[in-house]
Amino acid sequence: MSPKRPKRSVLFERKTRRLVVRPLVSSDDLAWKAAYSTMLPKRNAFDPTNRKPRELSVRRFRADLKSRNEGMAADRYYGFGVFHRKSGELVGQVGIMDVQRGISQSAYLGYVIFNRYWNQGFGKEAVRAAVDIAFRDLRLHRVEAGIRPRNRRSILLARSLGFRKEGLKKRAVLMHGEWVDLVMYSATTEDFGIRWRGRVDQR
Ligand SMILES: CC(C)(COP(=O)(O)OP(=O)(O)OC[C@H]1O[C@@H](n2cnc3c(N)ncnc32)[C@H](O)[C@@H]1OP(=O)(O)O)[C@@H](O)C(=O)NCCC(=O)NCCS
Repeated sequence: MSPKRPKRSVLFERKTRRLVVRPLVSSDDLAWKAAYSTMLPKRNAFDPTNRKPRELSVRRFRADLKSRNEGMAADRYYGFGVFHRKSGELVGQVGIMDVQRGISQSAYLGYVIFNRYWNQGFGKEAVRAAVDIAFRDLRLHRVEAGIRPRNRRSILLARSLGFRKEGLKKRAVLMHGEWVDLVMYSATTEDFGIRWRGRVDQR
C-alpha cells in the first residue's frame, strides 16, 4: 500500500499536492454555497442530489457547522472540506464517522467529490489525506469504507488506495427507507506503514 504521506501542517489539516483538507470554518460559507450551486446534474445513483437554493442559506451553513463542531467535540464525527489549493474552491468533503474507541479504535470513512471535479484524482488525494488524519491525529487503528455494491467508482477508489475487501455486510444501513447491503473495504495503520500510537483503556 502506498506510504506516500501528505504534508502535515496543523492538527486536522493536510496539504497535498493540489488540495487542502481541513475542517470548515465560518468564513467558508461562500465556497460551500458555490460548490453546491455549481453541481452538474446527478451523474449516477450515488452522486448526492442537488440542493435547492433555500438549502444553501448562511443559516443552513451555520447549522451544519455547529453540528460538525459538536461531533468533533464529542470525538464522534470529524468532517473536512476538500479545497483546491490554487483556486480556493471547495471540491469535495470527507468525513471520519462513528468513531469507536475502546478496543477497536476504528471509524468509517465517508467521501464525496462534487461531480464537476470527478476523474482528476481528487478523490484519491483527499481520502488518502483523511486516512492520514485518522491514523496520526486521531490515533485510530482501523478505517472502513462501507460501499454500495454497484458503486463502481467508489470501489475503484478504495482499491486504488490499497483498501482490503472484507466482505458483504447484509442490510447494513437504512437509506431512503430501505435497508441496504454494503461491501466493506478497510485499512489499518500497518497497511500504511504507520506505527499505532493510541491508547486503550482496557477496564
Ligand atoms: C467516488 C468518488 C469520490 C470518486 O472521486 P474522483 O475524484 O472522481 O476519484 P479519482 O479521480 O480520485 O479516482 C480514484 C480511482 O477511481 C478510479 N476511477 C475514477 N474514475 C474512473 C473512471 N471514470 N473509470 C475508471 N476508473 C475510474 C481509478 O481507479 C482511480 O484510481 P487511479 O487514479 O489509481 O487510477 C466520486 O465519484 C463521488 O463523489 N461519487 C459520489 C459519492 C460517492 O459515491 N461517495 C462514496 C460513497 S461510499
